[in-house]
Amino acid sequence: MSDYTYNKVTQEIVDELKEIIDSKYVIYEDTEKLEPYSHDEIAEKSYASMPEVVIKPRTVEEISRVMKLANRERIPVTPRGAGSGLSGGAVPLYGGILLSVERMNEILEIDRENLMAVVEPGVVTNDINEKVKEYGLFFAGYPMSVESCFIGGNVAENAGGGRAVKYGVTGRYILGLEVVTPEGDIINLGGKRVKDVVGYDFIKLMVGSEGTLGIFTKIIIKLLPLPTEKIDLLVLFNDVETAIKMVPMIMTNGRIIPTAVEFMDKLSFHTSYKYLNEHLPHEEAGAMLLIEVDGNSKTQLEEEYETIGALCLENDAIDVFVADNYTTQERVWKVRRNIAEALKVYSPIQTLEDIVVPMANIPKILPELKVIADKYDVLIPCYGHAGDGNLHATVVKKPEMDDKKWEETLDKVLTEMYQKTVELGGTISGEHGVGHKRKKYIGQALEPVTLELMKRVKLAFDPNNILNPGKIFNL
Ligand code: LAC
Ligand code: ZN
Repeated sequence: MSDYTYNKVTQEIVDELKEIIDSKYVIYEDTEKLEPYSHDEIAEKSYASMPEVVIKPRTVEEISRVMKLANRERIPVTPRGAGSGLSGGAVPLYGGILLSVERMNEILEIDRENLMAVVEPGVVTNDINEKVKEYGLFFAGYPMSVESCFIGGNVAENAGGGRAVKYGVTGRYILGLEVVTPEGDIINLGGKRVKDVVGYDFIKLMVGSEGTLGIFTKIIIKLLPLPTEKIDLLVLFNDVETAIKMVPMIMTNGRIIPTAVEFMDKLSFHTSYKYLNEHLPHEEAGAMLLIEVDGNSKTQLEEEYETIGALCLENDAIDVFVADNYTTQERVWKVRRNIAEALKVYSPIQTLEDIVVPMANIPKILPELKVIADKYDVLIPCYGHAGDGNLHATVVKKPEMDDKKWEETLDKVLTEMYQKTVELGGTISGEHGVGHKRKKYIGQALEPVTLELMKRVKLAFDPNNILNPGKIFNL
């Protein structure tokens, strides 16, 4: 546990918060209204923790004053976006103040000439794309929670998602940040410039810092010209091995970098089809790949998808479905986007993992997971962003296993899964973050010296360990 101790939020502190922020947006002593802020999207209830007070500031100055107050009074502050995270990053582990950015939800500027947008942290990521498409532009981030997550949370977690194969992850598109530091100073990092080598790259440091180093109040994002064409292929295979060995081949033999290569095993897609009440295209299929290509030339895309389709069929795919319009594309992606939620509904005693290995090692990690599942008598349905090596192995309790046994088993399963992942050149989280869910295992991924340096960086920014304590590591 932490060496830091915190004070409770008193009525006096609440009164002071109400002087800073419109009192309508300060929630205190109302369990029903506080409860939604006690958890994120993790299925396991044990990761939840209640805030003492929830505040919804509107301006950077308000946040700055709150951080100064929190430091003076030694009250922890946990920043929160939409709460769609999957590692407990936005959960107020030590109670205290939960700072929601939900009212800071304006798209401040669309700078077409520079292909950039300036947004507040509480903008829903999908809304950015809805807005900038009028300008022929798009934001390349595509987390599966795109319709609910906030851009601020995407930056805090360095969200990955479905288009990373071609476009990379959120961090690639973050050029500037206005940040309130844990001590309450307001700093501006970067700007509307593609190149900048002055001093340390604090933007890179802030991106993915899981709300532990600062609160983002303005974000400058790089946009790209919106591709005019896109085509999706849903490719069915008899089994996981056949499907997964295709993933690197599309890029090596096929010489194409698709926008997305998503993998789904049988249990994953069956559950999602059932959840959505959709008709399964092929009962017998044991695995599926969802492959997307995009660009501006229809002819080129046709060539690309025909090459990929032919390559899959030569390598024992059962069938290839082509989705070339919005309706069919949304249908296939909806199945993929809803797997996590579907598995949560039908198998709530579980842990959703997001291990990542070098892409070419994806065919090696899957059999290892099967060995672990058999050895510990659990299910491990797998799906995810195979094209970038990031897999959502979801460890699920079988109904016949009792809760105590599950608790003991889970720790062994995770330790072994992470060990195999690291042996294959991977790491324990590719996109969901460490949060407080994985901090126990961080030593499996980072060397002791590196971890120690990270702790020192945290304390350089946050000497009182006030901002989102208990996340990533304990101090
Ligand atoms: C997904 C989430 C779980 O890819 O990251 O569906
Ligand atoms: Zn994912």
